[in-house]
Amino acid sequence: MKNILHIISSARGNQSYSKGLSSAIVQKLQQQERINQVIIRNLMKDIPPYADEISIHEFYKNPGSYDEKSTALLSYANKIVDEMREADIIVIGTPMFNLGISTPLKGWLDQLIRAGVTYVFDEQWNRVGQFKGKKVYLAIASGGRRIEGTPDYISAYLKDVFRSYTGITDVETYRIEGTIEPGFEANYDQILGNFEMQNI
Ligand SMILES: Cc1cc2nc3c(=O)[nH]c(=O)nc-3n(C[C@H](O)[C@H](O)[C@H](O)COP(=O)(O)O)c2cc1C
Repeated sequence: MKNILHIISSARGNQSYSKGLSSAIVQKLQQQERINQVIIRNLMKDIPPYADEISIHEFYKNPGSYDEKSTALLSYANKIVDEMREADIIVIGTPMFNLGISTPLKGWLDQLIRAGVTYVFDEQWNRVGQFKGKKVYLAIASGGRRIEGTPDYISAYLKDVFRSYTGITDVETYRIEGTIEPGFEANYDQILGNFEMQNI
């Protein structure tokens, strides 16, 4: 039995194509595998806090030295770390905003990634990710279409963050493109035509 964590990061509610595509992925997973639970974290309903001067100080602390103040300041961060820890599969929907990820998704990452928590250092000072073996699906919605050969910043960036700071190397990307074209209609089944769950 697997647990899914579904991250929604568009402000557009049910109009959102990244929410639509990521929800379609969750549905496919539910059809193909015995799923225990799906936790939905809608980042626009519970917006990640900015890392301010005081909370950044807590982030740099060794987890062994947390006190009551740390627990209060890191409550959002600890909650989303727990959700990640419990998930076998993470499905992330994001709009493309100026070639990058959505603002709340960046906020979620900044709260999630933490030395001593999502990764530790070994004796040679190499990072060792603590969430190895999990699988991430990305659902990216963009108003335009990528031109062959141009960089895919979102997918490249998220893959690198997950690999470097969590140890997750299995990241699969799906895209819904051209959403602002006149008469655009979403066909999630077509996009997920070859969807098969592998290696989880
Ligand atoms: C502030 C802003 C920036 C955007 N930047 C881009 C962009 O760089 N490239 C692109 O193709 N579409 C861009 N779009 C269009 C969105 O990616 C598109 O509307 C997408 O469907 C939004 O995702 P959603 O449907 O999940 O909300 C932008 C939209 C907004 C509001």
